[in-house]
Amino acid sequence: MTKVKMSVADFKKFKEDGKKYTFVTAYDYTTATIVDESETEVILVGDSLAMIMLGETTTVGVTLDDIIHHAKPVRKGAPNTFVITDLPFGSYNVSVEQAVISANRLFMETHCDAVKLEGGVEMADKIKAIVTAGIPVCGHIGLTPQTATMLGGFRVQGGTPESARKLIDDAKCLEESGVFAIVLECVPSVVAKQMRKEVGVPILGIGAGPDVDCQVLVTQDLLGMYGDFKPKFVKHFAQIRKEMVAGLNKFHEETLSGEFPSEEHSFNKKVEVLPRLY
Ligand code: KIV
Repeated sequence: MTKVKMSVADFKKFKEDGKKYTFVTAYDYTTATIVDESETEVILVGDSLAMIMLGETTTVGVTLDDIIHHAKPVRKGAPNTFVITDLPFGSYNVSVEQAVISANRLFMETHCDAVKLEGGVEMADKIKAIVTAGIPVCGHIGLTPQTATMLGGFRVQGGTPESARKLIDDAKCLEESGVFAIVLECVPSVVAKQMRKEVGVPILGIGAGPDVDCQVLVTQDLLGMYGDFKPKFVKHFAQIRKEMVAGLNKFHEETLSGEFPSEEHSFNKKVEVLPRLY
């Protein structure tokens, strides 16, 4: 059965109906086709591509051009999946005008369904302007990797009553500004649960416990493609790295033994064609 692509309106509807869904990252065509073939409803072309694909230690170095470059093949590979692209650091922190120009580029050049940006109340005017321009916006609060240095590193947020209240107030402000959903990263489960109660738009949780509308994970994390590094909130649902290493070693072994390539994997044209080839 062909998958039916989720719409912006479905985010609200799924929350009202209590229907859960999943949201994963993709940065390339092949992965996008695999996610599209799965039941997954939403793809993020996240700025985590800096760390996952480009080997950086933070998300800060990735540019708008990088996101566009990766989002184009993702869109082609996942026509039946809702695709969100990240506005990277530096592409929306200068002015409202810069934020709209960057969002326009992402939306027009990648044909994504929505854009995502990090930050709370301080982003309200930018979100309003992008939404007014006709582009759906997803918020992102809690641990915001682009500004992790300001937060004291990659650590759980909302751990005190004051910071938890501030996060919930941020979420309310994002809702008023027009976001259709909010990514909530690395917060105690009780904070996410309370936010979900108080806020009308869906809460898409990553490291935010079970009481959210949708679970988000980085594809390479959930499929066990990374080495030994595994954040507490990640579960390995497969062991693809081990499978890949085993496959590569089998190729190596059969090449050395002469088992590969066999007749089956060779072109066995008669020797008379050779003069025509050279
Ligand atoms: O870039 C990313 O992968 C993200 C997720 C952590 C939500 O923003």
